Amino acid sequence: MATFKQLYLRKVFVLVSIILLVSVILVLGVSSATWNKVSSDHYSLQFYDFEIVNEFPHDSTAFTQGLLYAGNDTLFESTGLYRQSSVRKVAIRTGKVEILHKMADSYFGEGLTLLGERLFQVTWLTKIGFIYDRKNLQKLEQFTHEMEDGWGLATDGKILYGSDGTSTLYQIDSQTLKVTTKNVIKFNGQNVRYLNELEYINGEIWANVWQTDCIARISPNNGTILGWILLPSLRGGLLAAGYNGIDVLNGIAWDSSNNRIFVTGKLWPKLYEIKLHPAKKHYNSEDIEKLCLA
Ligand SMILES: *[C@@H]1O[C@H](CO)[C@@H](O)[C@H](O)[C@H]1NC(C)=O
Ligand SMILES: *[C@@H]1O[C@H](CO)[C@@H](O)[C@H](O)[C@H]1NC(C)=O
Repeated sequence: MATFKQLYLRKVFVLVSIILLVSVILVLGVSSATWNKVSSDHYSLQFYDFEIVNEFPHDSTAFTQGLLYAGNDTLFESTGLYRQSSVRKVAIRTGKVEILHKMADSYFGEGLTLLGERLFQVTWLTKIGFIYDRKNLQKLEQFTHEMEDGWGLATDGKILYGSDGTSTLYQIDSQTLKVTTKNVIKFNGQNVRYLNELEYINGEIWANVWQTDCIARISPNNGTILGWILLPSLRGGLLAAGYNGIDVLNGIAWDSSNNRIFVTGKLWPKLYEIKLHPAKKHYNSEDIEKLCLA
């Protein structure tokens, strides 16, 4: 028969065991949480695949250099090439050009963005840009900017973001058109050159990288690359279907009301609505350098 003292000791033993067990569980839990945080910080760069949700006709003579969504299933588009440059209002579902402003033959249209009622456009190999009335695409003003060249434009509704074919992402005051901030965009220590068509999406700048099938997702605050969207199968699919005259992926538009992403390319016969998914394949830095750094 157990004495009172033995019963007491047994109780203490059980209590101490429970305390130890709970401590071990807590320590394991905390350390695995710490591990998860460390590892997710390390892999905070995201890679994205996509699925095609919809495809729409796109004017295959449009050398797309600027694209944006303007509500009501319409896009504004800027096209390049000398003698063929234009600003257009396009119905998404039919691809029909509803209004077309043909530019002077000596201008090569580039990036386009909509701020309030006014469309801002830059042009290739000049520092000249134009402002148009969104209602009728009539030219309101001409301006000069301070970038090396005119490639891409976007806006967060307050300031303009610009690219000029280098690895610099510019912030531009929309009133004075003076550059206020520059960020050099780097990946794995290397400059990401040829930043092209831009879109501002949910607090990020998305940039087509010229001559690649990649879109870089960039923090506008500090220029850090947050992720890569890999779209090689879009151009690949068009080529496989026999569309040999197409040029590179270029043109991102964002419908913020319905979270729709549209992409197209220069001389592409189609505009795609896509949805992103985290990539299943694991990409390392070398893969991305090969695919996305021109
Ligand atoms: C939306 O687009 C359709 C077709 O182009 C047009 O008839 C209609 O007036 C537009 N609605 C608005 C609010 O702009
Ligand atoms: C850059 O800004 C993003 C948010 O836009 C933030 O998540 C990231 O940690 C920042 N990176 C650096 C190096 O400051």
